[in-house]
Amino acid sequence: MNASLHNDLLLRAARREPTERTPVWMMRQAGRYLPEFRAIREKVDFLTLCKTPELAAEVTIQPVDIVGVDAAIIFSDILTIPEAMGLDLEFVSGTGPVFHSPVRNEADVRRLKKSVLPDLEYVGEAIRATVRQLAGRVPVIGFTGAPWTLATYMVEGRSSRHFKVIKQLLYSQPALLESLLDRIVTEAIDYLGMQIEAGAHIVQIFDSWGGILAPEAFHQFALKPLTLLVESVRTAHPDIPVIVFSKGARTHLTDLAGTGADVLSLDWMIDPGQARMTLKSRTALQGNLDPAVLLTDPPAIERETEHMLAAFGEGPGHIANLGHGITPDVPVENARAFVRAVKELSPRYHTENQDTKRTGSFRESLE
Ligand code: CP3
Repeated sequence: MNASLHNDLLLRAARREPTERTPVWMMRQAGRYLPEFRAIREKVDFLTLCKTPELAAEVTIQPVDIVGVDAAIIFSDILTIPEAMGLDLEFVSGTGPVFHSPVRNEADVRRLKKSVLPDLEYVGEAIRATVRQLAGRVPVIGFTGAPWTLATYMVEGRSSRHFKVIKQLLYSQPALLESLLDRIVTEAIDYLGMQIEAGAHIVQIFDSWGGILAPEAFHQFALKPLTLLVESVRTAHPDIPVIVFSKGARTHLTDLAGTGADVLSLDWMIDPGQARMTLKSRTALQGNLDPAVLLTDPPAIERETEHMLAAFGEGPGHIANLGHGITPDVPVENARAFVRAVKELSPRYHTENQDTKRTGSFRESLE
């Protein structure tokens, strides 16, 4: 039990310790599906919101108050590191993030700034403000993009469908791509360390584009730098659980467990029962409701959530989440229905410890 937290279900589940019920949060839970978020976004642009700690803390806490999730993920973006490294970042409505001068050659890599932690201090401040304001209600999740996923944006310059530019680089100049990945790993290690020092209780690494690589390339360019990152964080901060989300990586679960991650976050295309069988009890699992289920209605959401909980099965070590981020078109009532369904339906999957482990945090979390 983390003494300063009233609800530490997430941390216990991440360590596969007994819990009274399954903890629940949603990737991208602070976002445009919330009218309260949109009201703030009308006044400030996205990057300004990330860089204003008081506002970032406010939107970080919104889903805890409004939807009832068991954790707050710090409001920021994975692209803050490349921006701090000197790439000019713009969020273009309709297009998404754009780097106007992407990384394409050796000179571009050499030009990237090193030791950029001072430029990312606003994230540390936002975490401190969030931890202070939450006063122990729920844990705070820090995060970073995985090296491979950050490299895709830095090289492609924007969201991509076919990843032709970075794949061309990968096959024609692998050493150059590795030097870029090395630079990102170094910054990401410092960045997660800083977030932990600022008070993050747990961290998640988003490898949104791990799944687009051929198997050998996955090992060399996604898994290798990811492993370095996870190992470094775990060595420096053995008490802080690490979650790895590698989208589309269903054939790589054993390798991902080999990174040393405490939790693997599954997308919705993975069968949780099969993942449990493959991994035995090497890691906790997170996920994995198809985010599109939240576009239906509360009865369907409850049914699908029950189905998901059953698929993960009995016992500790499951963190309920979506298989990817919540989309802006989800009605708030549906997000609430998902969270409520997990809270109401999951205790029966934790029967082995109901009598011995009835704590205040459980009663409070059902309120
Ligand atoms: O989870 C949370 O609530 C915390 C905040 C968070 C954001 N982005 C806020 C955001 C987190 C954890 C991210 C991670 C992120 N960002 C990822 C990894 C997760 C994933 O979805 O695969 C990626 C790939 C990005 C890059 C990124 N940022 C894209 C592609 C976009 C545009 C897409 C979109 O939804 O518009 C963003 C912008 C972004 N990041 C928004 C939010 C709330 C929307 C910007 C806005 O408010 O206008």
